[in-house]
Amino acid sequence: PRRIVLDTDPGIDDALAILLALASPEIELVGLSIVHGNCTLAEAVANGLSVLELSGGHHIPLFVGCDRPLLRPLTTAHDTHGQRGLGYAQLPPAQLQPVSEHAVDFIIRTALEAPGEVTLVAVGPLTNVALALRKEPRLAGALREIVIMGGALRADGNVTPRAEFNVYADPHAAQIVFSSGAPLVIMPWDITRLVRLHESEVNRLAQAGKPIGRFIADATRFYIEFHRRYFGYDGCAINDPAALALVFLPDLATYADVHVTVETCSPLTMGFTVADFMLSDGRQPNARAVVEFDTPRFLSLFVERMQMLEQR
Ligand code: BDR
Ligand code: CA
Repeated sequence: PRRIVLDTDPGIDDALAILLALASPEIELVGLSIVHGNCTLAEAVANGLSVLELSGGHHIPLFVGCDRPLLRPLTTAHDTHGQRGLGYAQLPPAQLQPVSEHAVDFIIRTALEAPGEVTLVAVGPLTNVALALRKEPRLAGALREIVIMGGALRADGNVTPRAEFNVYADPHAAQIVFSSGAPLVIMPWDITRLVRLHESEVNRLAQAGKPIGRFIADATRFYIEFHRRYFGYDGCAINDPAALALVFLPDLATYADVHVTVETCSPLTMGFTVADFMLSDGRQPNARAVVEFDTPRFLSLFVERMQMLEQR
């Protein structure tokens, strides 16, 4: 199996990515590194531990990372993910504890122990990842790949007209990562906004009356309401598990080489990801971006795996 570290800010769709990682035999989840983002760091840590406990992930170590962006003030998304970050779900506080090593050091240690083998899947603001790259310059060359859920390359943003949340929440960190030279795959909001889970699918999962299905239904009910109210969408975009799936099913997507730069100055377009697909002025690509995605195939795989996880 592919060894992955999931850097995450749980968050409703982050929780679904954790569940998908645990349900996927193609993946060895080495650990979770937690970052500020959808909610405060403390809430994200508590949510991550509760989700691990819910889903039989007791053996997965969880590492606490950065509680704020590099330079900008903290931006959270409680309106999107609910008061404590998991919608209407109320998981009991976990018995599990985080590991004492800092998430940044965990990322560096894990990658350097097995050069070329570890994939970092980053589905929150990129603060931990940027600090790790700065602290250990060999990291960029030691990771197999960094798969990033973030950016609005050819579409409107989801937090401002131009910016996607994960990049907006720490644009300076995102720019460090995009310019790091590490092999990058970008799963942008352009694509994930179309990868939506609907009430009917969620209700089917909840039907068995088991804890995981109920959790998914309670968390996504809030998320679905938000998407309807804010975007006029039917169903909720499950961005983070869609990005994770690229690790073990890369052929779900087609990709294009791109050079991405992040706007870090303008208050109007802060966090805008300027995507140069033409590679003008002889620019070299710094990432492969997903430009098409097989949404029906992914959604049926996702639902199937959630059912499997519940039956374990
Ligand atoms: C991203 O922002 C967060 O709210 C989600 O968890 C996802 O990672 C989508 O823009
Ligand atoms: Ca996230």
